[in-house]
Amino acid sequence: MSDFIAVCTTSEIPDPGKQTLEVDDRIVVLFHVGGEFFCIDDVCTHDGGPLGEGELSDHTIACPRHFAKFDIRTGKALTMPATVDTVVHDVKVEGDKVFVRINDQ
Ligand code: FES
Repeated sequence: MSDFIAVCTTSEIPDPGKQTLEVDDRIVVLFHVGGEFFCIDDVCTHDGGPLGEGELSDHTIACPRHFAKFDIRTGKALTMPATVDTVVHDVKVEGDKVFVRINDQ
């Protein structure tokens, strides 16, 4: 498993907000919602849509291509046309720094 990598400070992403990042050669989306941070792959499991460009609503991100929705906390595919969950990455906050650990799934 990878190590935690510092990716930003807590104030760099508005709440609610999101930021697409490259971490360990992987494109992921970091979300800031309700004072917490969450991270998932920037890949819709339906047909590869860029989730980071989708619309965020509470803890749900809608793919910009065909509008499948995913839970940003669990990666769970919530609506069609996606039926497969996306990958969730570990996040921790220490002081004002946000760290991500890539899940090599
Ligand atoms: S690529 Fe995301 S819903 Fe189709």
